[in-house]
Amino acid sequence: MSTQKSLLLLEENGSFAVRDTEIPKPGPGELLIENHATALNPVDWKIQAYWFFFIQSYPAVIGTDGAGIVKELGEGVTGFAVGDKVLYQGYFSNREATFQQYSINPAEITAKIPKNITVDQAATIPLVLATAVLGLYGSKASGSARGDGAGLTPPWEEGGRGKYAGQPILVIGGSSAVGQQVLQLARLSGFSPIITTASKHNDALVKSLGATHVIDRTTPLLQGLQSITSIPIKIVYDAISEAETQNTAYDALASGGKLILVLASEIDETKLTSDKQLANVYGTVHYMDQRTLGVSLYKNLSRLLETGDIKPNNVEVLPNGLAGIPDGLEKLKAGKVSAAKLVAHPQE
Ligand SMILES: NC(=O)c1ccc[n+]([C@@H]2O[C@H](COP(=O)([O-])OP(=O)(O)OC[C@H]3O[C@@H](n4cnc5c(N)ncnc54)[C@H](OP(=O)(O)O)[C@@H]3O)[C@@H](O)[C@H]2O)c1
Repeated sequence: MSTQKSLLLLEENGSFAVRDTEIPKPGPGELLIENHATALNPVDWKIQAYWFFFIQSYPAVIGTDGAGIVKELGEGVTGFAVGDKVLYQGYFSNREATFQQYSINPAEITAKIPKNITVDQAATIPLVLATAVLGLYGSKASGSARGDGAGLTPPWEEGGRGKYAGQPILVIGGSSAVGQQVLQLARLSGFSPIITTASKHNDALVKSLGATHVIDRTTPLLQGLQSITSIPIKIVYDAISEAETQNTAYDALASGGKLILVLASEIDETKLTSDKQLANVYGTVHYMDQRTLGVSLYKNLSRLLETGDIKPNNVEVLPNGLAGIPDGLEKLKAGKVSAAKLVAHPQE
């Protein structure tokens, strides 16, 4: 068999269609993976609605969260066998994107799925975990040319676990898919208190992931913070990064601190001061300048999942396989998804 089904974005700002395409061949160090689950992310509808530099040509396959079964090993691959269940972050090329039945991924940024996690759950993890990891533990200083982060020590590296005990962290949007991963990493890193904002109905969820204090996102943040801690908050992760949350987050950040943003800065220029730093995350482990941290994450990922240190997001499965993805993207775009990831089954 040499052909597969792929969901193609036919042209810039165009429509999607399921078409036959060639199954790609793995090169040295790569795996061919049969995708059994792929998760949807806001960037996928944004690519269709706007434009992103990383889409080089059309028709384009998009989608960057994959989980499935290894079908073929490229030259020199060790540590994987045909039949292994794996999860991985795809990339925006027609070989590596995940809204299709087969994709290629570098073995060094692929992890085996432990038995306590389903393939659907596994697909919810890669992009949002990469974004959380690169924002907290990556940095320009460690070689990243495009993305930036707080440059902290990851909890899976020596001395990293619990390293930030006694230091507060604020996570805006703890129930968002990115926010859920930031909360869990903050817990592993030892931050305390871990303060987050979410809707009231997600209170128990965010507490189960590590939040020690939850501020209802419809109430004034700064007022809520004062009653929780008097220690200056030097790390703020804004997992929503809309203009309003960014500006509030910046006000909450202490002098000498770092605000991590997942979208471009919209902070009022009149309030920017040199003693508060901004870091814009590029949530991909594919870029070579972010690869070292990505490889170290993927070396440790199966164990982090097996021990429950990192839990997947809630899963909502879409009907109709690849053809069901465009409706799912509309749902995401309309803001109708709360504390869950939409997952499609490319083999359906
Ligand atoms: N820079 C990067 O590389 C990168 C990577 C990944 C994502 N992103 C961006 O990050 C953003 C979040 O992505 P995602 O996948 O995590 O989104 P998501 O899970 O779809 O976000 C939905 C959640 O956002 C929460 N939310 C919305 N507005 C909020 C607010 N004002 N305050 C607090 N919570 C709010 C809602 O919480 P409640 O239900 O509790 O109300 C909801 O659960 C998107 O804009 C995405 O494009 C950037």
